Amino acid sequence: MYNEIDLDKIDLNVQPPTEEPARQYYYMAKCQEWVREFEQKNGHRPTAFTQTFGCQMNARDSEKIMGILKCIGYVETDSENSDLVVFNTCTVRENANLKLYGRIGQLKKYKKKNPDMVTVLCGCMMQEKEAVKKICTSYQNVDIIFGTHNIFKLAELLAMKILDKPSSKKVIIDVWDETAQIVEELPTERKYHFKSGVNIMFGCNNFCSYCIVPYVRGRERSRKPEDIIQEIKRLVSDGVVEVMLLGQNVNSYGKNLDKPVSFTELLKMVEQIEGLRRIRFMTSHPKDLSDELIEFMGQSEKLCHHLHLPLQSGSSRLLKIMNRHYTKESYLELVSKIRKAVPDIAITTDIITGFPGETEEDFNETLDVIKKAGYDSAFTFIYSKRTGTPAASMENQVPEEVVKERFERLLNTVQNTSAKKAAQYVGSTVYVLVEEKNTQEEGFVTGRTGQNYLVHFKGDESLIGQIVPVKLCESKNFYYYGEKQ
Ligand code: 5AD
Ligand code: SF4
Repeated sequence: MYNEIDLDKIDLNVQPPTEEPARQYYYMAKCQEWVREFEQKNGHRPTAFTQTFGCQMNARDSEKIMGILKCIGYVETDSENSDLVVFNTCTVRENANLKLYGRIGQLKKYKKKNPDMVTVLCGCMMQEKEAVKKICTSYQNVDIIFGTHNIFKLAELLAMKILDKPSSKKVIIDVWDETAQIVEELPTERKYHFKSGVNIMFGCNNFCSYCIVPYVRGRERSRKPEDIIQEIKRLVSDGVVEVMLLGQNVNSYGKNLDKPVSFTELLKMVEQIEGLRRIRFMTSHPKDLSDELIEFMGQSEKLCHHLHLPLQSGSSRLLKIMNRHYTKESYLELVSKIRKAVPDIAITTDIITGFPGETEEDFNETLDVIKKAGYDSAFTFIYSKRTGTPAASMENQVPEEVVKERFERLLNTVQNTSAKKAAQYVGSTVYVLVEEKNTQEEGFVTGRTGQNYLVHFKGDESLIGQIVPVKLCESKNFYYYGEKQ
């Protein structure tokens, strides 16, 4: 979030510093010099395009990437026909990888027109050796590859490409297996001026047996509470009213700090920040959701009444093989405990069907939990085999046609439950943070309720960034039509 770096004061006639983030400021200043030369030669500054695949963590990483690029002097564009293209990749399911290969291929035509165009691939998929190997052998138009652990090095890698080896066809690869390092004080760019994601931790220690995330994002590392608070204070003074605290499992925040701090303790500190109106967080692992947090959710004035609580499967037998450390019964108990403490809480979830060995009985247990938990919405996934995870080598993989049929039933059940849930709120007046102009309907704006429902209502752009009361008039399952009160 630190956007006040004065790059002009950096002496480029000396060796680059070895410590971070000073080293990156040095390279940003070097790249900035190159941008000035580019502008003189071409009459405009170089353009940059980033595309994010995957989750909220990646979206936040892309904001950091764009923050560095803008600090250097790049101008953001929304077209791949650009001087710099960054694909921030996802690999949680195999189709994410396949999509990326297609997108890299599509860039060839732009590179042909503009041979100096720089293509950067980064993020989770780049942590997979096989994927990087395939990219390097099949695509000649990629210039820089880095992973999830060293995003902060973008300026240094860019300097290597544009200053040291502009005509080299050799791809620069810098992928780290692990890191304990968290580099603070780098610039970021925000998609919205009034809300922002804030990383509170990186990595995951849970090793759910189907999931590749711990292998590509490394072990759990928490940021110091004082760094998080300082970042949020700066965001608030810059106009932010809502923050989303981000981590793969926020409930285990702070365990590895020198002075351990619980997630609830962190939330209590964030709640104190004056000017901040709303706090969200994502994602909660059911096994680590504490009574302390449930109690605080009931008391807090700023915590939004929305909890994303991935179920994955409703079968206790499968949950054990998935390494989730809870049962169907303990999950449902947790849900009722939360509802008791926070009656109007919206609960959303992630569900996988087709995990190896999933029987019809296991699947029916999942449908049963969906009905009993009363989810407001659910992300549903077909199990995807990820090489290197324990589940990938399990023998009893479920046939494709069986999974497809179950997925249809899963979707229907989720849609029915969500529709019933959404209908319950019709007629109530809720507070909506207005996010943008509605692109479909003239004269309408769109915002989110504390429970994370989308609401469209009549209003003009001046409302963007404000929290306003809106009556929910009509439910369309995933969104509402409302009227500003
Ligand atoms: N196959 C399908 N879905 C998966 N997820 C994680 N790994 C896989 C996989 N191999 C889902 C989980 C997780 C969400 C982010 O992605 O439901 O909560
Ligand atoms: Fe993957 Fe499980 Fe970690 Fe979530 S908690 S990122 S599903 S390993």
